[in-house]
Amino acid sequence: MASDMSSLLAEDRPSAAAAKAARRKAETAAFAEAVLEGLSRRPRSIPSRFLYDAAGSALFEDITKLEEYYPTRVETALLEAFGKEIAECVGDTDILVEFGSGSGRKTSLLIDALPGLDTYIPIDVSEAFLVEAAKRLSGKHPGLTVKPVVGDFTRTRTLVGAPRGARLGFFSGSTIGNLTHEDAKAFLANAAHLLGKDSRFLIGVDLKKSLDILIPAYDDADGVTAAFSLNLLARVNRELDGDFDTTKFAHQASYNAREGRIEIHLGSLTSQTVRVLGRSFAFTKGERIHTENSHKYSVPEFQALAATAGWRPVKAWTDAEDLFSLHLLRLA
Ligand SMILES: C[S@@+](CC[C@H](N)C(=O)[O-])C[C@H]1O[C@@H](n2cnc3c(N)ncnc32)[C@H](O)[C@@H]1O
Repeated sequence: MASDMSSLLAEDRPSAAAAKAARRKAETAAFAEAVLEGLSRRPRSIPSRFLYDAAGSALFEDITKLEEYYPTRVETALLEAFGKEIAECVGDTDILVEFGSGSGRKTSLLIDALPGLDTYIPIDVSEAFLVEAAKRLSGKHPGLTVKPVVGDFTRTRTLVGAPRGARLGFFSGSTIGNLTHEDAKAFLANAAHLLGKDSRFLIGVDLKKSLDILIPAYDDADGVTAAFSLNLLARVNRELDGDFDTTKFAHQASYNAREGRIEIHLGSLTSQTVRVLGRSFAFTKGERIHTENSHKYSVPEFQALAATAGWRPVKAWTDAEDLFSLHLLRLA
């Protein structure tokens, strides 16, 4: 088959340009609603998916290269070491569907290990980054049809234009940890519906570990993770006529042992009033906006969570230091 980037986004078609403008408008409306609602409630919060505009995705790429950020390094090493074995356990696969694909760098390792693969469908909310990554993957894997889908993977109910065939889902980077347990169960149930009968699902999941390793991964010495968090406020300024002074908020990473998760907050360094879309929000000194969770799971804990949505374990791979896990699941 000829190399094909038969994108759902083909920029040269007028209908595609109109669809892109409509998507952008809908995404800005969803962002406005989430920010106004999230800043009005107590405790204040903004959903983590809004961390990923073009600037946020680029900053996340920088995070993945940090010494302190072990998840990318270890998950990559697991795919390098066990790619062939994973492919053998997966069996024949025609279509790879990736949720929250990001740069897709790790995906290349999986694609290389799956010889019969025909179509790759990456789903991500960060449009410009997704298009670039899809082009890169398409160039790197001639013969593979790449069909990027811009959207919220928690709300993607169908894969328009996807061919028939055996499907493997891929959810890397422990992005599933960003979801609460209830949202993760709902996501896994929706993924079961999207991927369909007899499908397989490979999920990268961060393991519980010492805080000496965990905290620096979310609060690095060079302040890259802080810049990633604070970009959320800069995005509000850019897109929602906000006037956050990003020097008056601080990135804070802590571990909530009861919930088994890292929590990220932006703490107000002073008492201040901020305006967004014409509305005022008063912050007391120390008041926080909750921007991200990163849940950690032992192997049995994650297998039990996946089972609630009908996913049965095939095998789990972990590194020698028990930092990260890769779970292969199949639909029961
Ligand atoms: C933690 S990064 C992981 C990226 C990549 N999978 C990796 O392992 O390097 C999360 C990715 O998921 C995307 N994302 C986050 N929430 C999303 C959502 N609700 N729907 C679609 N994409 C989402 C982000 O844009 C980002 O690319």
